[in-house]
Amino acid sequence: MIRPELVIAPDIQIEPLKPTDVEGLLSILREDVRDRDTGEVIESDIQKIQGFMRGEKDEHGRVRKYLVARGDDDRVYGCMAYSSPPDPDIVSLFKSDPIHSAQLLDVFVPDPDVASKLLNRLCIQAAKEGKRQLWIASNLRYESYWVFFEKMCGRPKGFFWRSGEQGHTEIWLKSLDYETYGPGSDYHRFLSLSPDYWKYMSPDEYREKINTPARNPEYFRRFHQPIIERAKQQFGPQIRLLDIACGPGDELDFVKNDPEVQIIATDASHVILPTVRDKIGNAAVFASDVRASALQDNIADAGMLVNAMVYVPDKMLETMYRALKPGGECAVNFRIFGNEHNKAFYDFNVSHGGKILDKKLTVETPEGPRDFDVKVLDYTEFVNDNGTPDLSMRQLAQQIYFKSADDVKDLISAIGFEQVEHSQFEFASPANPNNQIDVFILKKPLSKIDS
Ligand SMILES: C[S@@+](CC[C@H](N)C(=O)[O-])C[C@H]1O[C@@H](n2cnc3c(N)ncnc32)[C@H](O)[C@@H]1O
Repeated sequence: MIRPELVIAPDIQIEPLKPTDVEGLLSILREDVRDRDTGEVIESDIQKIQGFMRGEKDEHGRVRKYLVARGDDDRVYGCMAYSSPPDPDIVSLFKSDPIHSAQLLDVFVPDPDVASKLLNRLCIQAAKEGKRQLWIASNLRYESYWVFFEKMCGRPKGFFWRSGEQGHTEIWLKSLDYETYGPGSDYHRFLSLSPDYWKYMSPDEYREKINTPARNPEYFRRFHQPIIERAKQQFGPQIRLLDIACGPGDELDFVKNDPEVQIIATDASHVILPTVRDKIGNAAVFASDVRASALQDNIADAGMLVNAMVYVPDKMLETMYRALKPGGECAVNFRIFGNEHNKAFYDFNVSHGGKILDKKLTVETPEGPRDFDVKVLDYTEFVNDNGTPDLSMRQLAQQIYFKSADDVKDLISAIGFEQVEHSQFEFASPANPNNQIDVFILKKPLSKIDS
């Protein structure tokens, strides 16, 4: 258990673990390896960890490399280990580049300063061995370390529910390769550009203000349910359903209790992820920006993109395309600018300081770049009814709307999808009682494996 109040501050050296340290670390392990409910020490787990310290392989066939913090008196003040590749559920869902990724394991260090030194040294060592990412998966038993992980690695990247564990596991990802992933790199620039909806918008305010069909049971019944059923027949019974740009995950309410559906929910915003985790429970919930997607290819049997195509629509579709298995289907909706039913939506936004701009969206296609003339709804000067700045709406930044269904169809085929179905769906929303959205069911062709 990490204890912020502890100040040991001895002269600490970080060194590889020696066989004699295994006994020396026992008292620290006995503090941490305890049942969450009863507080009892779990001797069998301690013996397993001691086995790993002696070089035994773990259940995934990995040998763990341990570093210890040693004082002048030769006493050990804690240990950490790392191993490669990361756990199979991390590797199977997220682009973890197994060869260049390591996972932090067995963190048993009561003093936070000693823990920082150990982790820094471990990162340097792993980076020298060519590792670029360090994954951390920590379950509730080790909750006392979460503040430390957050301090060292930033917000958790996501959450898993793993069978047999009480509660969820938090996942952090620390970049080790500064050229590729460090501040100032393209990767970071992309991530920081993403509009952060959730900074000023609570999920409740979102439900009051935003014009999405996510909570409409009829939308689920008409579009999501059929693709889920077909996926079960094709790939099931157990399937993986991917929701990209899930926001608070309202569309997942209709499927979260289906035992045959394993949900993977992603959004660019970290802020909203705990809301999704808490309502959905058994799911993998992960921060992922479609401009630098964290998802592995060919992992999902079915997909949903609800009110997502207003941001980087080509990347949204491409990310879904890559993540779906060949033969997998997804549903995706667009609010076409030229559709008369949607005029009230645009008028409402303009009457509140929104601006409609003419822009070009350039999409890379196998045949070369393709320009789309699109309308952009700019919310950056949005005001409330009384004229005061509306920060939560301003946070929506700029949204992209296609001018015709034909343009959308061109985008769909440029990405490589086959169109299975195209229909319209009407629903009432805060800014418009008569929205009409175009909904497409798309299939990743069986014959085309992505390049
Ligand atoms: C209109 S909300 C839709 C949320 C949910 N699907 C719904 O319909 O209620 C759009 C979501 O897209 C996310 N988003 C914006 N840019 C993104 C990006 N580049 N990659 C992934 N998600 C993004 C936002 O954080 C936000 O949660």
